[in-house]
Amino acid sequence: MDNHVRLFDTTLRDGEQSPGATMTTAEKLEVARALARLGVDVIEAGFPAASPDDLEAVRRIAQEVGRSQNGERVPVICGLSRTVKGDLDKAWEAVQGADKPRIHTFIATSDIHMKYKLKMERPEVLKVVREMVAYAHSLCADIEFSPEDAGRSDPEFLYQVLEVAIECGATTLNIPDTVGYLMPDEFGALIAGIIKNTPGIDKCTVSVHCHNDLGMATANTLAGIRAGARQAEVTINGIGERAGNTALEEVAMAMFTRQQVLGLETGIDTTQLARVSKMVSNYTGISVQPNKAIVGANAFAHEAGIHQDGMLKNHMTYEIMRPETVGVSQSSLVLGKHSGRHALQERMVTMGYNLDENNLNKLFERFKVLADKKKTITDADLEALVSDELYQPKVLFTLDGLQVACGTMGLPTATVRLIDPKGEKLVHASVGTGPVDAAFKAIDAIVSSSSTLVEFVIHAITQGIDAQGEVTVRIQGAESTSHLNAQKETTQPHTYGGYGADTDIVVASAKAYLSALNKMLVATGHFGEEPETAAVQKVAS
Ligand code: KIV
Ligand code: ZN
Repeated sequence: MDNHVRLFDTTLRDGEQSPGATMTTAEKLEVARALARLGVDVIEAGFPAASPDDLEAVRRIAQEVGRSQNGERVPVICGLSRTVKGDLDKAWEAVQGADKPRIHTFIATSDIHMKYKLKMERPEVLKVVREMVAYAHSLCADIEFSPEDAGRSDPEFLYQVLEVAIECGATTLNIPDTVGYLMPDEFGALIAGIIKNTPGIDKCTVSVHCHNDLGMATANTLAGIRAGARQAEVTINGIGERAGNTALEEVAMAMFTRQQVLGLETGIDTTQLARVSKMVSNYTGISVQPNKAIVGANAFAHEAGIHQDGMLKNHMTYEIMRPETVGVSQSSLVLGKHSGRHALQERMVTMGYNLDENNLNKLFERFKVLADKKKTITDADLEALVSDELYQPKVLFTLDGLQVACGTMGLPTATVRLIDPKGEKLVHASVGTGPVDAAFKAIDAIVSSSSTLVEFVIHAITQGIDAQGEVTVRIQGAESTSHLNAQKETTQPHTYGGYGADTDIVVASAKAYLSALNKMLVATGHFGEEPETAAVQKVAS
């Protein structure tokens, strides 16, 4: 059996379904480019029928990342679709510009989903699969089919559904443990049973798609692969619905590190893993837990004296992989105050960024300001500047000035000046429990929006007293939105993530908060209203 396992990345689809992970089209394009450089085989770029913005993002990824310019290898670009004609048309409209387009269509097959969600009997589901997979195949040659909640479906029914999907043109059969319910031996047995009992499956690729509700996603994925699956569906940092999906970096590094046991390989350039992880974390506002395998801040840190002693004598005493293998470099000192625009441009190209003239100029301005405050600028600093300066959501309100008074001698107070969508400067001062709270309250008063802060994370990007602070926030709006994964639309409150970086941590916090608010305002269309409070002052530009 072929020992190459295809990695199908769904960060931009299932990953983006995590609360707060909404990304702008510019951010999605940059993530897609990074995934292509990383070497994934398939990028699931989104769910085109979910909204016109989703369709547009998938369309641009298909055209700008999925088309080879100079004969370089490009990934398959895939769009998700319910087994509904209108959705399939939108998915095809979105992906057809890619050199290698794919439509991924799904319908639930577990008794509980069919009874309560679809309100369909088994024969009806079989009929939909027959008609809609055939319809999808009339649009696109490469069709992937998923029986949703396969982990809790009757295996005998699964064999029938998959057989029909194959007869109608599906060439990849993806088996999702949608609710992360199975144990590794059960999931492995499910995959083995499907391979043994589904007529025609030998001509297809079997794929696995696991969720992490019981912390089994990576173990289940590897069990499925060992049972014969040759495509694994994964996300960067394991982001995804609820407890998330299988983490790409874990599966790739398990196959790399335990090659002798597994005898399998992927096309991943492992040295890019840390960088892509950081990019996804910055853009989604979802920080990576420090002890996260492979990409957590502590994944290669050795604290205990005995461990440090062992490491000094031979790193293999406590290290099963080298940090450089996943792109964590301890000393990525690159640029300083005297570095020019050209040096910055070269470094950005080496780091895999494709900046146009305008963006390079903007970045260079920020770089100079930072270099005045900080002696050495590392790759991590540059990543932060790119996220903070270039890939912010469509900007409605920009931070134009911030001053705080805080400490033990009085009430923490912040004065904030924002530029509104019409270009007017608005100022407000608020008190709060601390300088960050005061700044957020002043921003709320100017923007005139209500949201709940659900997460605030701050940390230093590099070591040293002159380090930049980076802040990720997640806010929840009162807004409801239509969402995926059901055969009909549902409403639910939405979470928005924001990111900010600066050597001043209150400024970084205000930027992160404003970036999340901007995302919320764009998504809900609630902006341009006059601030309610009379205390918000307009100032001359
Ligand atoms: O978890 C799931 O079942 C899915 C399908 C759409 C493949 O994400
Ligand atoms: Zn999923």
